[in-house]
Order: sequence, then structure tokens, then C-alpha cells
Amino acid sequence: MYRSNTCGELRAANINQCVTLAGWVQKVRNLGAMTFIDLRDRYGITQIVVEETSAEQTRTTAARLGREFVIQVKGRVIERQSKNPKMPTGDIEVAADEITILTEAVTPPFTIEEHSDGGDDLRMKYRYLDLRRPPLQRNMILRHKMAQEIRRFLDSEGFLEIETPYLIKSTPEGARDFVVPSRMNPNEFYALPQSPQTLKQLLMVAGYDRYFQIVRCFRDEDLRADRQPEFTQIDCEMSFVEQDDVLEIFERWAKHMFKSVLGIEFNEPLRRMPWIEAMEKYGSDKPDLRFGMEFADITDLAHGHSFSVFDDAEYVVGFAATGCASYTRKQIDALTEFVKRPQVGAKGLVWIRLEQGGGIKSSIDKFFSPEDLRAIAERLGAKEGDLCLVMCGKKFKVLTQLCTLRLEVAEQLGLRDPKKFAPLWVIDFPMFEWDDETERFYAMHHPFTSPKPEDVQYLESDPARVRANAYDFVCNGTELGGGSIRIHDAQLQSLIFKCLGFTPEQAEAQFGFLINAFKFGAPPHGGLAFGFDRLCSLFGGSESIRDYIAFPKNNAGRDVMLDGPSPIAPEQLEELYLSLVTPTEK
Ligand code: AMO
Repeated sequence: MYRSNTCGELRAANINQCVTLAGWVQKVRNLGAMTFIDLRDRYGITQIVVEETSAEQTRTTAARLGREFVIQVKGRVIERQSKNPKMPTGDIEVAADEITILTEAVTPPFTIEEHSDGGDDLRMKYRYLDLRRPPLQRNMILRHKMAQEIRRFLDSEGFLEIETPYLIKSTPEGARDFVVPSRMNPNEFYALPQSPQTLKQLLMVAGYDRYFQIVRCFRDEDLRADRQPEFTQIDCEMSFVEQDDVLEIFERWAKHMFKSVLGIEFNEPLRRMPWIEAMEKYGSDKPDLRFGMEFADITDLAHGHSFSVFDDAEYVVGFAATGCASYTRKQIDALTEFVKRPQVGAKGLVWIRLEQGGGIKSSIDKFFSPEDLRAIAERLGAKEGDLCLVMCGKKFKVLTQLCTLRLEVAEQLGLRDPKKFAPLWVIDFPMFEWDDETERFYAMHHPFTSPKPEDVQYLESDPARVRANAYDFVCNGTELGGGSIRIHDAQLQSLIFKCLGFTPEQAEAQFGFLINAFKFGAPPHGGLAFGFDRLCSLFGGSESIRDYIAFPKNNAGRDVMLDGPSPIAPEQLEELYLSLVTPTEK
């Protein structure tokens, strides 16, 4: 037996017991007569003491110990002289009778403690050392607990966990596929699934009317804090359901997760906000509702004052930054610079200050009387002490830009509290999204999403007007999940393909297997998928999903620990009938 107890377990009640512990040496303090060792495993840290009276061999071994040596300690639990109330094991220590070095360790490249001195790159390279640190261990434990809770809930609701293949044919999810060459089928490629979308629909055709899977998905897209090239979805699908049925069950599931993992109760039904309202009030289809500062359209009030910037703009919109009238010119200039950065892309920012005591000042004083400005401020819901921030341009572009500003101001005001949660559903998404570059419509969700029955009449005449039976689960400005009710009618599906610019032949080549399956009796069905990594990072209170993935990739999509991707041997290429082309500089 390597150990009788873990390093996080012993308390005052264990005093006088003989124990055996095993773990990593976090720290050794040699105080002449006595040596103290902090012994760590994933359960905690226990202090080991080697006394002057300890056996000679124990003292010699203790003197040889270095950081991260793996050791076994046999000894007796004793009361600690100077107790440490910050440590769960802080009332006791183990007086070592015998120390065995199980393996030695070279000095680690950074400190493996609660707070490390290692930079991001170094810690990614030695991820297995970083994973020894308590913060990452807490994250992995949280992820595990959440996975168990998800399975428990869905199992109790009759969902079956069914695995689907990773080597598949390309799925239409909008991002680029990762592809895998097939040796047995020369010049043909598998694609790694961007999600099991089509497969779970086939499971519905097969009659497995409540399916779920905690499943890896692969997307070759640009990375951000909340995006990884491989990530995990909680993927679900149900048959014989309408949108309300899906929302009801997954709202219950989400509330169950908040309660069981974080102890937070949501007793009221979650808000269901139509997409257009989310865009017009918050400039985003994933609004952060932890705070107000809603937008209002002031186009009518802004036009007709000989201020050409406003007069020429399609849409003028603003919000009242709570309590920001005290912002200095320098702070306001910084906000203007912020919106002018290429990432935001705005031309400028107009402000109206509602000063304490009733004064009103603005960057557009020349064009607008105090009464005009007050009318705008009132529309924006501003009170004395608030600062109105206004931008103009093409409607959805300026709304998106203003959203970035709203979030920045909220950040500055400390309103984006990671311990506060504001979940909601965003519903009634548009069916199609117009792309200026390729001059065609794309499915906003995916091509199997059903349009709202009352909007089907506009499919050919006015596609932009068609709303979908699609929904997202949003919390704190992050899209945690999304799904839709699918099309189960072959004729409607053909019409949608046509609207998306597919010829019948192209549709057949890409989705023939699904269209064909639907001919054999497809039940009405729908579902959704949650981003498991995002859910973990939201619950854990961190911005980056990397912290919740044991072995993540960096922002360039590299695994710096394994040093992948990497070239492969010429023989391997030959076996796959592949030859390489040197990339030309873009
Ligand atoms: P969607 O593409 O919206 O839907 O994805 C569902 C959820 O997955 C998470 N997610 C990601 N997380 C980390 N890194 C990424 N690169 C990444 N991309 C997406 C998000 C998102 O809400 N098949 C449909 C679902 C359905 O219709 O049932 C789908 O994949 O949290």
C-alpha cells in the first residue's frame, strides 16, 4: 500500500494515528534542527516534519529532497505548534519516521503553487506541471462534476447517450473542416465533425427519440478566448417536439446545473428575447444582461439639425452610461479612441453630459439646443449624472459597434461581475444571413433549420424577412448553446437548398444521405448543443475556456507541449498518395 491517506485528509481528529502519505515535494524548509516539507497531491498539502530526534537515515533523505521529488512518508500525526488556519490540514503535521524517494525530479521550470511565476507559453509547454497546480486541479474537478451532473439529469429525463463517428463526411456548419486522408480510399478524405448535426438527425429517423452525447467537435476557425479548434459539446436531439418543448426541458436542465453546481436558484422563467430586440437594445445576439444601459433609436431626433454626420446616417443610436457624467475629457477621448480602433471600426463618438445640478453639455452643442439634447437624453433613459454615448451609421453595423462600447464601459464600471449570472434565451433568429462578399444568403444556423410556418410564404420573395425556429442560450454576453427545430419535410428542405443557392445536384452530392433517409419516415424533431468548455469557464468564473481543457491548443492552433502539428515522413505521404505544395506568401 503506497498510502493510507491523501495529503488533503488529515485533521486534528487523526492525531496520534500512524499514517503513510505519498505525493510531490512542494517546498522544503530546513531550519537547522528541523526540516519541514510541504507534501502535495491533488487533495491538498500536508506538512511533514523531520525532527532532530528522527532516525539518521530519515534526516539524510530529507536533506536530499528537491522540489517535485515524489516521496512516500511514514509517520505519526501530531498537533502542529504554529497552526495555519488557511490550510484545511493546518492543525496537524506528520512527524516522519521514514522517507522513501519514489522518484527524483529535475527542478521544474516554474513554481507549482497556487500562483505560479511561469509565463503562459512556458506553462503551456509543460502543461502536465501546470495541471499539478491547485487552480487547474479545481477546474478539472469542476468539469468532471459538471459532466456527471449533465449525465445524471439527462438520463433521468430518458435521454440515451449514443456515440457517433469522428471520421465522417463534411458537415455543413459554416466553419472550415479538418480533414483526414484515407489510405484505403486514395485521394479521398474524411472530415472531422464540426458537430454531429446530421448524425443526430439520422438517430431521430432511427427512432432514438431522446439522444445526447458529450462529444468532441472540430472546427478550423480563427481562435479566441472562447474558441478552440477542438472543443466539447453537450449535443442533444429530441423527436416529436416543438420549440417550446426543447426550451422547457433545457431551461430546467440549465437551472438544475446552476443549482447543483453553484447553489444558485433561478425561480422565474428565463427571459425569451426575440433576436431583433436583442440587436436593437444591446447590439448583439448574445446580450449581457447583468446590467442595463439599453440602446434607443434616436434617428428621428438626430436628423434635421444640419449636423451632416447624423443627417447622412441611416441609423443613430445611443445609450446612457450610468453615472459617467463625471468622466473627464481625457476619459471621453479614450472612449472615442476605443471605438475608432480597427477592431471596432467606428468613425467617432458623440456625447451628452447630464451634469449634477441640471447642466447639459455635449460635443454637438453647436447643432442641438439644450432642449433637443434633453429630448435625446430622455429617449436614452439618462438621469442626472449620466453620460449619453451616441454613434451612427448603417443600422446593424453601428449597433454592433455600440455593443462593444457598452461592454467596455461596463467593464470600466465593474459591472461585469463573474459571480453574477444573467441567462436568457434569444429566439426568432433570421433564417438567412446575407454575405456582401459572395453576394448570397447563408443559413444563419444551418440548412436543416425550419422556418417559422407563418414566414414560409416569403422564402422566395423576401428571404431576409424569414425567421427561423432557432434559439440560443445566452449568459453574460456569451453564447453557451444553440439549436433549432429541423425540417422533416423533403419538399421544404429542397426549397431551402434552392434559397441557399444549391442546385439539386449539389444538394444531393452533399446531403443525399440525409435527404434519402428522410424519405423513410422522419419524425418532427429538433434539438440543440451547448458548449461544454464555455459552460465550465462561465461556472468557474474565467474568460478563457483553455483553463478548463486539460490539454488545449494555443492561439495559433498549436499544441506546444506535443509540438503539433508537425511534418510527416515522406513514406507516410506516399502511402496516402499525397504530395506537398510549398505555401506562397499571402
Ligand atoms: P453551434 O455551432 O451553435 O451549433 O455550436 C453549439 C455551441 O458550441 C459552442 N462552440 C464552441 N466552443 C468552443 N470553441 C468553438 N470553436 C466553438 N464553436 C461553438 C458554443 C455554441 O453555442 N449542431 C448545432 C447545434 C444544433 O443545432 O443542435 C451546432 O453545432 O457554445
